[in-house]
Amino acid sequence: MAELSDVPNDRLASLTSGVDMWHFAELGEVGLRGIKVSDGPAGARGERWFGGSSACVPCGTALGATWSREVVAEVAGVLAAETRRKGADVLLAPTVNLHRHPLAGRNFECMSEDPELTAQLATAHITALQQAGVSACIKHFVANDQETDRHQISSEVGEGVLRELYLRPFEAAVRDAGTWSVMSAYNRLGGEFCSQHHWLLTEVLRDEWGFDGVVVSDWWGTNDTAALEGGLDVEMPGPTRYLGPTVAAGIEDGSIPAPALQRAADAVLLMAERVGALGGETPGIADETSHDDAAERAVLRRAAVESIVLARNDGGLLPLTDADSIAVVGPNAASTAIMGGGSAAFVPHRVTDVLSSLSARVDDGVTVTHERGTPPPDSLPALDRKVCSVDGQQRFTVEHFGTPEPDGEPVLVEPSLTSRLLWMGAPGPGVPEQGSSVRLLTTLTPTVSGEHTFGLVTGATGWLTLDGEVVLDNRDDRQPGTAFFGLGSEEIRTTVQLEAGTPVSVEAVTSPVDGVPVGGMAIGHLEPVADEPLASAVQAAAAADVAVVVVGGNDQWETEGADRAGFDLPSGQPELVEAVCAANDRTVVVVNCGAPVDLSCAAQAAAVLLCWYPGQEAGEAIADVLLGESDPGGRLPTTWGRQLSDWESDSNFPGGDGVVRYEEGLRVGYRDFDSAGTEPAFCFGHGMSTTTFQWSDAAIDAGSRTASVRVTNTGPRRGTEVVQCYVTDPGTNRPPQRLAGFAKVHLSPGEDAVVEIPIGEPSLRQWDESRGEWVVPTGLREVRLSASSRDHRHRLELAVD
Ligand code: BGC
Repeated sequence: MAELSDVPNDRLASLTSGVDMWHFAELGEVGLRGIKVSDGPAGARGERWFGGSSACVPCGTALGATWSREVVAEVAGVLAAETRRKGADVLLAPTVNLHRHPLAGRNFECMSEDPELTAQLATAHITALQQAGVSACIKHFVANDQETDRHQISSEVGEGVLRELYLRPFEAAVRDAGTWSVMSAYNRLGGEFCSQHHWLLTEVLRDEWGFDGVVVSDWWGTNDTAALEGGLDVEMPGPTRYLGPTVAAGIEDGSIPAPALQRAADAVLLMAERVGALGGETPGIADETSHDDAAERAVLRRAAVESIVLARNDGGLLPLTDADSIAVVGPNAASTAIMGGGSAAFVPHRVTDVLSSLSARVDDGVTVTHERGTPPPDSLPALDRKVCSVDGQQRFTVEHFGTPEPDGEPVLVEPSLTSRLLWMGAPGPGVPEQGSSVRLLTTLTPTVSGEHTFGLVTGATGWLTLDGEVVLDNRDDRQPGTAFFGLGSEEIRTTVQLEAGTPVSVEAVTSPVDGVPVGGMAIGHLEPVADEPLASAVQAAAAADVAVVVVGGNDQWETEGADRAGFDLPSGQPELVEAVCAANDRTVVVVNCGAPVDLSCAAQAAAVLLCWYPGQEAGEAIADVLLGESDPGGRLPTTWGRQLSDWESDSNFPGGDGVVRYEEGLRVGYRDFDSAGTEPAFCFGHGMSTTTFQWSDAAIDAGSRTASVRVTNTGPRRGTEVVQCYVTDPGTNRPPQRLAGFAKVHLSPGEDAVVEIPIGEPSLRQWDESRGEWVVPTGLREVRLSASSRDHRHRLELAVD
């Protein structure tokens, strides 16, 4: 086997670029096979968006809401196993940008508004992945906190704010978890693209923090060959546009210094050694497999329960132990959203919804009724495989043709578990990237008679037929929409009368978008909606002992590629919540979205559960909490404001003229609400239990800077308590306090435990702009042991010298 030093520059330079969407280059002469990467935070998808299924874990905000390193590590364990099942070595996760503004489209993927909560959970995540031999690729480095103009926008952030807030999770990932890779962000920072930012990628990441791993570009997020010298190691995806052979030529003519290439090559080799891609340790790349594992389901269900925030529980309505009848209403009851949209999306092993799980698990004799309660939404849910079949199996068939419209024999026929197809590069293996076409076929057997709504979204243009008749067609009038990272068409829709039990054949056709490597097609479908949906839902709610109204978004409403359009719940939902609460004073509002929305409509609700996108076990986990089989373990990882103007960042979101100024400085999240004295709907860290706890014996050990407190379950049920530790932050114009640490305990009635929370230096230091260095101000700090950022149970003093 050759030594790296014997490898000629052109071969070495080939390592600086991926070869295709998901593989790094191989270097057979030194025993290196091509490292394979896979998205992403919600599951290990593998190479295809509509390939085999994968385990869908709770979204980033849900992981943040667990406030549990243990739970996050367990979830990462599942992700590591799934990554290997997809034959991959690197998981493109976790996403650790901060919730700067509630409308940022990828908030659901990120964990929190708070750098320390994010840092500590990301550390647990990365450590668990890497202990299983899978590389994390923490993203997106840095200040990638919105989708608007994301490929060009320059985030203008002062150095102190950048270091204290936005860089902190990345710093912890390098210093505490030793992450093996980092993904550079699309955006610019202070005018320079992050993918070629020397200060960021070289001076801070490598020289200061000691990072020895691989910096990977975000997809098509390399902008210049200068990126290599800036600190980028691998341009993704391949084929290359800026590195690879261009680097070899630059070394040859002296325009690129050889050490830059050596650094990148060394980093890739080190990663290969770490993941077992060197010297035939894990030979070849294993075929992708799907394995829906019972033990993993249990981990995901527990994680979802641990993330559900009980924000209000007037009169102890939850758990629902004495209801004889429950009206389950709202669009997300039967179509519970398990994940957000974009590169984090994929085909899950299964989807559990609130309506089915609750109906199946209530005691004998309890009746469950259901009404959707809202008109058809702005974008329809995808046609569900559960009502479709091909050869007796719940699925679809995808036919690929080598011609711009289906003609003759397909070049490839493959099964699909989803009617929402998305691809990057070629639509299928061996299918031409351009000039080809895709046909999706299935047989739909309606379960309800009436007016069914169908929708179609296409990458380029296309049409949809039912029993051979064209019912939707956008070939002559395609309008741009927001699907498929903003490249898809606007949805067109129609209604068709169908009979329950009478099968209808469905076919949809599209072709790749000219000159664009991303394509797709989605068939939307909605079963008949009541003539007066709101009135029917109100009637059902009024007639039941308890109403559970499930509202929220979905993977079209909250997605990579677009910031959310507004602070309201999707149309029709606020009215529904308000009317149901008025009709039944025992109403539980279940909110199923990735970031705060206006919940003024729920002012009269007796109980409010904030559930995020909880992953594939969504329905089971929410039923666990509603029925009292589990205590809701979540606490808010982000402040739930009342209106957008509550957030200082709203004055500068999403920016304009290519620039977004972070003028709010350190005033992000609770730091902002605390500074302004603004009363949020629910504050950071808030979340209730269905049992009660007493806190006692609070103490602080000044030597080890560790706070401790005894927590006793004084209530009737087993429950979960999260002890949060905030420290005051001395100095003028600084937010009054910040989170230093946290600990979560699960206790049975009468049981107690002492929790210890170390206060690390990152929670005491401040960036001194004039000296350009960290300082730890000396003097007394108040240390608060708290049940939320506004519920301080014990105040202690810590002398810092
Ligand atoms: C996203 C990344 C993702 C990559 C590959 C990009 O659009 O920003 O987070 O890992 O695509 O799918």
